[in-house]
Amino acid sequence: MSAEFIAPRLRRVRPSPTAVISDRVRALSAAGVDVINLGEGELDFDTPDHIKQAGIDAIVQGDTKYTAVAGTAALKKAIINKFARENQLNYQENEVIAGSGAKQLIFNALLATVSAGKEVIIPAPYWVSYPDMVSLADGESRIVPCKEQDGWKLQAADLAAAITEDTRWLILNSPNNPTGAVYNHQELRALADVLLAAPQVLIMADDIYEHICHPPAQFVTLAQVEPRLLDRILTVNGVSKGYSMTGWRLGYAGGPAWLIAAMQILQSQSTSNPSSISQAATVVALQQDNGFLADWRNILDKRRQKMMACIAQIDGLSADLPPGAFYVFANCAGMMGKTTPQGVTLNSDVDFVEYLLDAAHVATLHGSAFGAASYLRIAYAIDDQRLDDACERIVRACAALA
Ligand SMILES: Cc1ncc(COP(=O)(O)O)c(C=O)c1O
Repeated sequence: MSAEFIAPRLRRVRPSPTAVISDRVRALSAAGVDVINLGEGELDFDTPDHIKQAGIDAIVQGDTKYTAVAGTAALKKAIINKFARENQLNYQENEVIAGSGAKQLIFNALLATVSAGKEVIIPAPYWVSYPDMVSLADGESRIVPCKEQDGWKLQAADLAAAITEDTRWLILNSPNNPTGAVYNHQELRALADVLLAAPQVLIMADDIYEHICHPPAQFVTLAQVEPRLLDRILTVNGVSKGYSMTGWRLGYAGGPAWLIAAMQILQSQSTSNPSSISQAATVVALQQDNGFLADWRNILDKRRQKMMACIAQIDGLSADLPPGAFYVFANCAGMMGKTTPQGVTLNSDVDFVEYLLDAAHVATLHGSAFGAASYLRIAYAIDDQRLDDACERIVRACAALA
Protein backbone atom coordinates (compact mmCIF):
# COMPACT_ATOMS: atom_id res chain seq x y z
CA MET A 1 0.00 0.00 0.00
CA SER A 2 1.40 3.36 -1.00
CA ALA A 3 1.36 5.70 1.98
CA GLU A 4 0.89 8.86 -0.11
CA PHE A 5 -2.58 7.72 -1.11
CA ILE A 6 -3.74 7.45 2.50
CA ALA A 7 -5.68 10.40 3.89
CA PRO A 8 -4.15 12.05 6.99
CA ARG A 9 -7.23 11.21 9.04
CA LEU A 10 -6.62 7.49 8.54
CA ARG A 11 -2.96 7.79 9.53
CA ARG A 12 -4.10 8.73 13.02
CA VAL A 13 -6.02 5.49 13.42
CA ARG A 14 -4.60 2.21 14.71
CA PRO A 15 -5.89 -1.02 13.26
CA SER A 16 -8.11 -2.59 15.93
CA PRO A 17 -5.73 -4.42 18.33
CA THR A 18 -8.36 -7.08 18.78
CA ALA A 19 -8.39 -7.69 15.03
CA VAL A 20 -4.58 -7.95 15.04
CA ILE A 21 -4.67 -10.78 17.62
CA SER A 22 -7.53 -12.46 15.74
CA ASP A 23 -5.42 -12.39 12.56
CA ARG A 24 -2.49 -14.00 14.41
CA VAL A 25 -4.81 -16.65 15.82
CA ARG A 26 -6.18 -17.39 12.33
CA ALA A 27 -2.65 -17.62 10.90
CA LEU A 28 -1.54 -20.02 13.66
CA SER A 29 -4.69 -22.11 13.23
CA ALA A 30 -4.18 -22.22 9.46
CA ALA A 31 -0.67 -23.54 10.16
CA GLY A 32 -2.25 -26.42 12.08
CA VAL A 33 -1.70 -25.10 15.63
CA ASP A 34 -4.56 -25.78 18.06
CA VAL A 35 -5.09 -22.27 19.42
CA ILE A 36 -7.75 -21.55 22.05
CA ASN A 37 -9.04 -18.06 21.47
CA LEU A 38 -9.91 -16.15 24.64
CA GLY A 39 -9.56 -12.89 22.77
CA GLU A 40 -12.83 -12.75 20.92
CA GLY A 41 -15.65 -10.47 22.10
CA GLU A 42 -18.54 -12.77 21.34
CA LEU A 43 -20.58 -15.55 22.88
CA ASP A 44 -20.11 -19.08 21.57
CA PHE A 45 -23.88 -19.72 21.76
CA ASP A 46 -25.86 -20.12 18.59
CA THR A 47 -28.43 -17.45 17.73
CA PRO A 48 -31.71 -18.87 19.16
CA ASP A 49 -33.72 -20.91 16.64
CA HIS A 50 -36.82 -18.71 16.65
CA ILE A 51 -34.69 -15.71 15.72
CA LYS A 52 -32.87 -17.61 12.98
CA GLN A 53 -36.23 -18.74 11.64
CA ALA A 54 -37.44 -15.15 11.47
CA GLY A 55 -34.43 -14.35 9.26
CA ILE A 56 -35.14 -17.37 7.04
CA ASP A 57 -38.82 -16.38 6.80
CA ALA A 58 -37.81 -12.86 5.79
CA ILE A 59 -35.74 -14.22 2.91
CA VAL A 60 -38.46 -16.62 1.77
CA GLN A 61 -41.08 -13.87 1.90
CA GLY A 62 -38.94 -11.59 -0.23
CA ASP A 63 -38.13 -9.20 2.57
CA THR A 64 -34.86 -8.57 0.79
CA LYS A 65 -35.06 -5.00 -0.49
CA TYR A 66 -34.00 -1.55 0.76
CA THR A 67 -35.93 -0.36 3.78
CA ALA A 68 -36.24 3.07 5.40
CA VAL A 69 -32.72 4.21 6.31
CA ALA A 70 -33.33 4.22 10.09
CA GLY A 71 -35.17 0.88 10.05
CA THR A 72 -38.59 -0.52 9.20
CA ALA A 73 -41.69 0.68 11.04
CA ALA A 74 -41.96 -2.79 12.62
CA LEU A 75 -38.41 -2.66 13.92
CA LYS A 76 -38.77 0.88 15.26
CA LYS A 77 -41.90 -0.21 17.10
CA ALA A 78 -40.04 -3.21 18.58
CA ILE A 79 -37.17 -0.93 19.67
CA ILE A 80 -39.55 1.60 21.24
CA ASN A 81 -41.33 -1.22 23.10
CA LYS A 82 -38.03 -2.71 24.26
CA PHE A 83 -36.86 0.62 25.69
CA ALA A 84 -40.22 1.14 27.42
CA ARG A 85 -40.48 -2.41 28.80
CA GLU A 86 -36.91 -3.00 29.93
CA ASN A 87 -35.59 0.50 30.63
CA GLN A 88 -38.71 2.59 31.31
CA LEU A 89 -37.63 4.97 28.54
CA ASN A 90 -40.30 6.43 26.31
CA TYR A 91 -39.06 7.28 22.84
CA GLN A 92 -41.06 8.45 19.82
CA GLU A 93 -40.50 7.10 16.32
CA ASN A 94 -38.17 9.97 15.36
CA GLU A 95 -36.10 9.32 18.48
CA VAL A 96 -34.89 5.83 17.57
CA ILE A 97 -32.65 4.49 14.81
CA ALA A 98 -31.34 1.08 13.76
CA GLY A 99 -27.93 0.65 12.14
CA SER A 100 -25.46 -2.03 11.09
CA GLY A 101 -24.28 -2.75 14.62
CA ALA A 102 -23.94 -0.58 17.71
CA LYS A 103 -20.47 0.22 16.41
CA GLN A 104 -21.85 2.01 13.38
CA LEU A 105 -24.29 4.01 15.48
CA ILE A 106 -21.56 5.12 17.89
CA PHE A 107 -19.37 6.08 14.96
CA ASN A 108 -22.18 7.99 13.24
CA ALA A 109 -23.10 9.85 16.43
CA LEU A 110 -19.48 10.94 16.94
CA LEU A 111 -18.92 11.87 13.31
CA ALA A 112 -22.14 13.88 13.28
CA THR A 113 -21.24 15.96 16.34
CA VAL A 114 -17.48 16.05 16.96
CA SER A 115 -15.14 18.41 15.13
CA ALA A 116 -11.63 19.79 15.60
CA GLY A 117 -11.14 21.22 19.07
CA LYS A 118 -13.92 19.16 20.66
CA GLU A 119 -13.12 16.68 23.40
CA VAL A 120 -14.63 13.31 24.23
CA ILE A 121 -14.22 11.99 27.76
CA ILE A 122 -13.46 8.27 27.73
CA PRO A 123 -13.06 6.51 31.09
CA ALA A 124 -10.25 3.93 30.92
CA PRO A 125 -10.17 0.97 30.56
CA TYR A 126 -12.29 1.49 27.45
CA TRP A 127 -13.54 -0.39 24.42
CA VAL A 128 -10.71 -0.18 21.89
CA SER A 129 -12.72 1.57 19.17
CA TYR A 130 -13.80 4.74 21.01
CA PRO A 131 -10.54 6.75 20.81
CA ASP A 132 -9.98 5.91 17.15
CA MET A 133 -13.52 6.88 16.26
CA VAL A 134 -12.96 10.21 18.01
CA SER A 135 -9.75 10.68 15.98
CA LEU A 136 -11.58 9.94 12.75
CA ALA A 137 -14.05 12.66 13.69
CA ASP A 138 -11.09 15.09 14.21
CA GLY A 139 -11.78 15.28 17.95
CA GLU A 140 -9.54 14.77 20.99
CA SER A 141 -10.00 11.88 23.39
CA ARG A 142 -9.70 12.85 27.01
CA ILE A 143 -8.88 9.56 28.70
CA VAL A 144 -9.79 9.49 32.40
CA PRO A 145 -8.14 6.55 34.18
CA CYS A 146 -10.37 4.58 36.55
CA LYS A 147 -8.93 2.53 39.39
CA GLU A 148 -9.16 -1.17 40.05
CA GLN A 149 -9.97 -0.39 43.71
CA ASP A 150 -12.96 1.73 42.55
CA GLY A 151 -14.28 -1.32 40.69
CA TRP A 152 -12.97 0.33 37.52
CA LYS A 153 -15.74 2.94 37.67
CA LEU A 154 -15.52 6.62 36.82
CA GLN A 155 -15.68 8.77 39.96
CA ALA A 156 -17.83 11.92 39.94
CA ALA A 157 -14.90 14.13 41.04
CA ASP A 158 -12.71 12.82 38.21
CA LEU A 159 -15.51 13.45 35.73
CA ALA A 160 -15.97 17.00 37.01
CA ALA A 161 -12.23 17.64 36.70
CA ALA A 162 -12.14 16.35 33.12
CA ILE A 163 -15.01 18.48 31.78
CA THR A 164 -14.02 21.64 29.89
CA GLU A 165 -15.97 24.11 27.74
CA ASP A 166 -14.92 22.03 24.75
CA THR A 167 -16.21 18.71 26.07
CA ARG A 168 -18.70 17.36 23.56
CA TRP A 169 -19.31 13.83 24.88
CA LEU A 170 -18.85 11.52 27.80
CA ILE A 171 -18.88 7.84 26.82
CA LEU A 172 -20.18 5.52 29.54
CA ASN A 173 -20.11 1.79 28.97
CA SER A 174 -21.84 -0.47 31.49
CA PRO A 175 -21.51 -3.46 31.74
CA ASN A 176 -18.03 -2.59 30.65
CA ASN A 177 -15.74 -4.04 28.06
CA PRO A 178 -13.02 -4.95 29.12
CA THR A 179 -13.53 -4.88 32.93
CA GLY A 180 -17.08 -6.23 33.34
CA ALA A 181 -17.83 -3.30 35.71
CA VAL A 182 -21.53 -2.46 36.18
CA TYR A 183 -22.58 0.97 37.48
CA ASN A 184 -25.35 0.94 40.06
CA HIS A 185 -28.07 3.54 40.50
CA GLN A 186 -26.16 5.50 43.12
CA GLU A 187 -22.98 5.67 41.06
CA LEU A 188 -24.90 6.90 38.01
CA ARG A 189 -26.74 9.38 40.24
CA ALA A 190 -23.40 10.91 41.29
CA LEU A 191 -22.27 11.22 37.66
CA ALA A 192 -25.67 12.65 36.66
CA ASP A 193 -25.30 15.44 39.22
CA VAL A 194 -22.03 16.49 37.58
CA LEU A 195 -23.55 16.26 34.10
CA LEU A 196 -26.60 18.34 35.00
CA ALA A 197 -24.23 21.22 35.66
CA ALA A 198 -22.46 20.76 32.29
CA PRO A 199 -25.04 21.45 29.54
CA GLN A 200 -22.38 21.36 26.79
CA VAL A 201 -21.86 17.62 27.31
CA LEU A 202 -23.71 14.89 25.45
CA ILE A 203 -23.66 11.43 27.00
CA MET A 204 -23.35 8.16 25.16
CA ALA A 205 -24.64 5.23 27.23
CA ASP A 206 -23.21 2.15 25.51
CA ASP A 207 -25.49 -0.56 26.93
CA ILE A 208 -24.55 -3.33 24.51
CA TYR A 209 -23.85 -5.80 27.36
CA GLU A 210 -27.11 -4.99 29.19
CA HIS A 211 -28.27 -8.60 29.30
CA ILE A 212 -24.98 -10.05 30.51
CA CYS A 213 -25.17 -8.90 34.11
CA HIS A 214 -24.85 -11.26 37.06
CA PRO A 215 -26.89 -10.75 40.26
CA PRO A 216 -26.55 -9.09 42.69
CA ALA A 217 -25.42 -6.55 40.06
CA GLN A 218 -28.41 -5.03 38.32
CA PHE A 219 -28.38 -3.20 35.06
CA VAL A 220 -29.58 0.40 35.03
CA THR A 221 -29.01 3.02 32.34
CA LEU A 222 -28.28 6.71 32.88
CA ALA A 223 -31.43 8.04 31.15
CA GLN A 224 -33.50 6.03 33.63
CA VAL A 225 -31.66 7.50 36.59
CA GLU A 226 -31.90 11.13 35.49
CA PRO A 227 -34.70 11.92 33.00
CA ARG A 228 -33.62 15.57 33.00
CA LEU A 229 -30.61 14.45 30.96
CA LEU A 230 -32.77 12.68 28.38
CA ASP A 231 -32.33 15.39 25.77
CA ARG A 232 -28.54 14.89 25.93
CA ILE A 233 -28.27 11.11 26.17
CA LEU A 234 -27.84 8.66 23.33
CA THR A 235 -28.70 5.20 24.63
CA VAL A 236 -26.99 2.65 22.40
CA ASN A 237 -27.81 -1.04 22.36
CA GLY A 238 -28.03 -3.96 19.94
CA VAL A 239 -28.55 -7.67 19.55
CA SER A 240 -24.88 -8.70 19.13
CA LYS A 241 -24.07 -9.64 22.71
CA GLY A 242 -27.37 -10.36 24.44
CA TYR A 243 -28.80 -12.48 21.62
CA SER A 244 -25.54 -13.90 20.25
CA MET A 245 -26.10 -12.17 16.92
CA THR A 246 -22.73 -10.52 16.26
CA GLY A 247 -22.74 -11.53 12.60
CA TRP A 248 -26.20 -10.14 11.90
CA ARG A 249 -24.88 -6.60 12.39
CA LEU A 250 -27.85 -4.94 14.03
CA GLY A 251 -27.66 -2.18 16.60
CA TYR A 252 -30.12 0.48 17.68
CA ALA A 253 -30.19 3.71 19.65
CA GLY A 254 -32.59 6.12 21.30
CA GLY A 255 -31.92 9.82 21.76
CA PRO A 256 -33.03 13.37 21.01
CA ALA A 257 -34.71 13.75 17.61
CA TRP A 258 -32.11 16.26 16.31
CA LEU A 259 -29.27 13.81 16.96
CA ILE A 260 -31.11 10.82 15.52
CA ALA A 261 -31.89 12.91 12.40
CA ALA A 262 -28.21 13.84 12.01
CA MET A 263 -27.15 10.20 12.40
CA GLN A 264 -29.76 9.21 9.85
CA ILE A 265 -28.40 11.71 7.29
CA LEU A 266 -24.92 10.26 7.72
CA GLN A 267 -26.24 6.73 7.44
CA SER A 268 -28.27 7.62 4.32
CA GLN A 269 -25.05 8.68 2.58
CA SER A 270 -22.94 5.76 3.73
CA THR A 271 -24.42 2.35 4.53
CA SER A 272 -28.19 3.08 4.23
CA ASN A 273 -30.48 0.71 6.11
CA PRO A 274 -29.12 -2.24 8.08
CA SER A 275 -29.82 -5.61 6.42
CA SER A 276 -33.56 -6.12 5.90
CA ILE A 277 -33.15 -9.75 6.99
CA SER A 278 -31.40 -8.83 10.22
CA GLN A 279 -34.09 -6.24 10.91
CA ALA A 280 -36.85 -8.85 10.56
CA ALA A 281 -34.98 -11.23 12.88
CA THR A 282 -34.41 -8.44 15.41
CA VAL A 283 -38.13 -7.63 15.53
CA VAL A 284 -38.67 -11.20 16.77
CA ALA A 285 -35.65 -11.08 19.09
CA LEU A 286 -36.88 -7.92 20.80
CA GLN A 287 -40.55 -8.92 20.93
CA GLN A 288 -40.48 -12.53 21.99
CA ASP A 289 -39.71 -14.11 25.30
CA ASN A 290 -35.98 -14.01 26.00
CA GLY A 291 -36.15 -16.65 28.72
CA PHE A 292 -33.09 -18.33 27.19
CA LEU A 293 -31.02 -15.48 28.64
CA ALA A 294 -31.32 -16.84 32.18
CA ASP A 295 -29.83 -20.16 31.02
CA TRP A 296 -27.07 -18.37 29.16
CA ARG A 297 -26.24 -16.31 32.23
CA ASN A 298 -26.02 -19.48 34.35
CA ILE A 299 -23.61 -21.06 31.90
CA LEU A 300 -21.56 -17.86 31.73
CA ASP A 301 -21.51 -17.59 35.51
CA LYS A 302 -19.99 -21.09 35.80
CA ARG A 303 -17.36 -20.21 33.22
CA ARG A 304 -16.64 -16.95 35.03
CA GLN A 305 -16.09 -18.86 38.28
CA LYS A 306 -13.88 -21.36 36.47
CA MET A 307 -11.68 -18.59 35.09
CA MET A 308 -11.49 -16.95 38.53
CA ALA A 309 -10.42 -20.28 40.05
CA CYS A 310 -7.78 -20.64 37.36
CA ILE A 311 -6.39 -17.17 38.05
CA ALA A 312 -6.37 -17.80 41.80
CA GLN A 313 -3.94 -20.71 41.23
CA ILE A 314 -1.40 -18.57 39.43
CA ASP A 315 1.29 -16.67 41.22
CA GLY A 316 1.50 -13.20 39.66
CA LEU A 317 -2.07 -12.98 38.36
CA SER A 318 -5.10 -11.61 40.21
CA ALA A 319 -8.61 -10.39 39.38
CA ASP A 320 -11.83 -9.28 41.05
CA LEU A 321 -15.01 -11.11 40.09
CA PRO A 322 -16.44 -9.14 37.15
CA PRO A 323 -20.20 -8.55 37.58
CA GLY A 324 -21.01 -8.13 33.90
CA ALA A 325 -20.08 -8.81 30.27
CA PHE A 326 -18.03 -11.99 29.66
CA TYR A 327 -14.49 -10.87 30.36
CA VAL A 328 -12.11 -11.16 33.29
CA PHE A 329 -9.68 -8.24 33.43
CA ALA A 330 -6.71 -9.72 35.25
CA ASN A 331 -3.82 -7.86 36.82
CA CYS A 332 -0.57 -9.30 35.45
CA ALA A 333 1.85 -6.84 37.08
CA GLY A 334 3.23 -9.78 39.09
CA MET A 335 4.43 -11.41 35.86
CA MET A 336 6.75 -8.54 35.00
CA GLY A 337 10.40 -9.45 35.38
CA LYS A 338 9.72 -13.19 35.13
CA THR A 339 11.71 -15.17 32.56
CA THR A 340 10.42 -17.65 30.00
CA PRO A 341 12.05 -21.09 29.50
CA GLN A 342 13.66 -19.53 26.39
CA GLY A 343 15.32 -16.91 28.59
CA VAL A 344 13.14 -13.97 27.53
CA THR A 345 12.22 -11.51 30.30
CA LEU A 346 8.57 -10.37 30.39
CA ASN A 347 8.53 -6.59 30.53
CA SER A 348 4.96 -5.71 29.59
CA ASP A 349 1.43 -7.03 29.26
CA VAL A 350 2.11 -7.41 25.52
CA ASP A 351 5.10 -9.69 26.30
CA PHE A 352 2.90 -11.77 28.61
CA VAL A 353 0.06 -12.08 26.07
CA GLU A 354 2.57 -13.08 23.39
CA TYR A 355 4.10 -15.62 25.75
CA LEU A 356 0.67 -17.19 26.42
CA LEU A 357 0.02 -17.35 22.67
CA ASP A 358 3.41 -18.87 21.84
CA ALA A 359 3.85 -21.19 24.82
CA ALA A 360 0.26 -22.16 25.68
CA HIS A 361 -1.42 -21.45 22.34
CA VAL A 362 -4.02 -19.43 24.22
CA ALA A 363 -4.98 -16.02 22.83
CA THR A 364 -5.89 -13.18 25.20
CA LEU A 365 -5.66 -9.39 24.80
CA HIS A 366 -3.21 -7.02 26.45
CA GLY A 367 -4.73 -4.43 28.78
CA SER A 368 -2.74 -1.61 27.20
CA ALA A 369 -4.98 -1.94 24.11
CA PHE A 370 -7.82 -0.89 26.42
CA GLY A 371 -5.87 1.92 28.09
CA ALA A 372 -4.69 -0.05 31.15
CA ALA A 373 -1.16 -1.49 31.01
CA SER A 374 -0.19 -4.52 33.14
CA TYR A 375 -3.57 -6.20 32.68
CA LEU A 376 -4.98 -8.71 30.28
CA ARG A 377 -8.51 -9.32 29.09
CA ILE A 378 -9.65 -12.91 29.10
CA ALA A 379 -12.92 -13.64 27.28
CA TYR A 380 -14.42 -16.75 28.83
CA ALA A 381 -17.48 -17.22 26.59
CA ILE A 382 -16.23 -20.42 24.99
CA ASP A 383 -17.16 -24.09 25.15
CA ASP A 384 -16.67 -25.54 28.67
CA GLN A 385 -14.19 -28.24 27.69
CA ARG A 386 -12.10 -25.82 25.69
CA LEU A 387 -12.17 -23.44 28.64
CA ASP A 388 -10.90 -26.23 30.95
CA ASP A 389 -8.17 -26.94 28.44
CA ALA A 390 -7.29 -23.23 28.19
CA CYS A 391 -7.07 -22.93 31.99
CA GLU A 392 -4.75 -25.94 32.21
CA ARG A 393 -2.55 -24.55 29.49
CA ILE A 394 -2.35 -21.11 31.13
CA VAL A 395 -1.52 -22.60 34.54
CA ARG A 396 1.19 -24.79 32.98
CA ALA A 397 2.72 -21.95 30.97
CA CYS A 398 2.77 -19.66 34.00
CA ALA A 399 4.35 -22.37 36.16
CA ALA A 400 7.18 -22.61 33.62
CA LEU A 401 8.12 -18.95 34.22
CA ALA A 402 11.08 -18.33 36.49
C1 LIG B 1 -18.44 -1.86 24.44
C2 LIG B 1 -18.87 -2.23 23.07
N1 LIG B 1 -19.67 -1.39 22.39
C3 LIG B 1 -20.09 -1.67 21.15
C4 LIG B 1 -19.70 -2.84 20.51
C5 LIG B 1 -20.18 -3.07 19.11
O1 LIG B 1 -21.22 -3.97 19.00
P1 LIG B 1 -21.89 -4.32 17.62
O2 LIG B 1 -21.55 -5.73 17.30
O3 LIG B 1 -23.36 -4.13 17.82
O4 LIG B 1 -21.37 -3.37 16.58
C6 LIG B 1 -18.87 -3.74 21.18
C7 LIG B 1 -18.40 -4.97 20.50
O5 LIG B 1 -17.44 -5.58 20.85
C8 LIG B 1 -18.44 -3.43 22.48
O6 LIG B 1 -17.65 -4.27 23.18
